Amino acid sequence: MIRTKLTTKFGIDHPILLAPMDKVSGGTLAAAVTAAGGLGLIGGGYGDAEWLEEQFSAANNQPVGVGFITWALAEKPHLMDLCLERKPRAMIFAFGDATEFVMKCRDAGVPSIWQVHRVEQARQALSAGTDVIVVQGQEAGGHGMDRGLATLLPAVRDAAGPDQIIVAAGGIGDGRGLAGSLMLGADGIMMGTRFWAATEANGLNSAKARLVEAKGDDTLRTKVFDVARGLDWPWHFSGRVLQNDYSRRWHGDIDALKANESERTRYNEAEAEDYATRVVIGGEVVDLIHAIKPAGEIISDTVAQAEELLSNAQNYLT
Ligand SMILES: Cc1cc2nc3c(=O)[nH]c(=O)nc-3n(C[C@H](O)[C@H](O)[C@H](O)COP(=O)(O)O)c2cc1C
Repeated sequence: MIRTKLTTKFGIDHPILLAPMDKVSGGTLAAAVTAAGGLGLIGGGYGDAEWLEEQFSAANNQPVGVGFITWALAEKPHLMDLCLERKPRAMIFAFGDATEFVMKCRDAGVPSIWQVHRVEQARQALSAGTDVIVVQGQEAGGHGMDRGLATLLPAVRDAAGPDQIIVAAGGIGDGRGLAGSLMLGADGIMMGTRFWAATEANGLNSAKARLVEAKGDDTLRTKVFDVARGLDWPWHFSGRVLQNDYSRRWHGDIDALKANESERTRYNEAEAEDYATRVVIGGEVVDLIHAIKPAGEIISDTVAQAEELLSNAQNYLT
């Protein structure tokens, strides 16, 4: 068994969190991750009260947490109360200043998690007194910034000191990523793309199949799909996705896409499985995804491989 400050904090068997992927991480997936010994986090994303209620019910009383895109939650603060009433195991915030939400969590006795992409943001999360900091590298699927995990993670550990609970995210898909993250200073990992290709994830099987087929080289950080979908993301965030014809056409021509209403309409009216147009969000870790598997199997495989690597680590020493 791998024991860390993260497993102790949440009383979980394995130091593995499910990323709160907007709509993909529904109650069923979150519950499956918790049932397998990790901590499932529902992906509240941009905030939809009815959907959230459904997902808490789908979690079927398994202890799960819930996460939001911070700047979107700031526009719908009542959703925070809706979630706190459900007594989530934790709340996670990403993309913006989450100080006020961390304070609300503290008042409600709910652990708070803040996902950061820069050392400066980690300092902000530390001053807010957040319980757990997730350090996300640019390899990650979905939105993020431009720092690689291999330097950002130890830098945040240095800034935070030994007692802060820190979780690594971005490009982790197996036990090598878990073992390596522990060595770089993390107390656990949060996986997104790997769990997107889980049986219990919300989404079309054809989209999951694309994650299995894709290579990390095929991914790209871009703003194309935010512009196409009319999402008002702060400019310093981009999203890592599987490239397709639409991103190849518009990635280098964002201003022209903004001005081209018919191309944006074409995007939003495209069939769900028109993958030449529609985005499939995914990170560089698709290189390591070879099958759609139940979440429980993803967790047990990851932990078994990390345990083997860590127990053999002494072989490096003479
Ligand atoms: C499909 C998808 C949707 C995501 N949606 C969100 C989101 O709504 N909120 C959030 O904080 N992070 C979101 N993320 C980013 C994850 O929180 C996490 O940082 C990332 O998945 C970790 O990298 P990995 O994909 O390589 O595991 C999303 C990631 C993916 C793949």
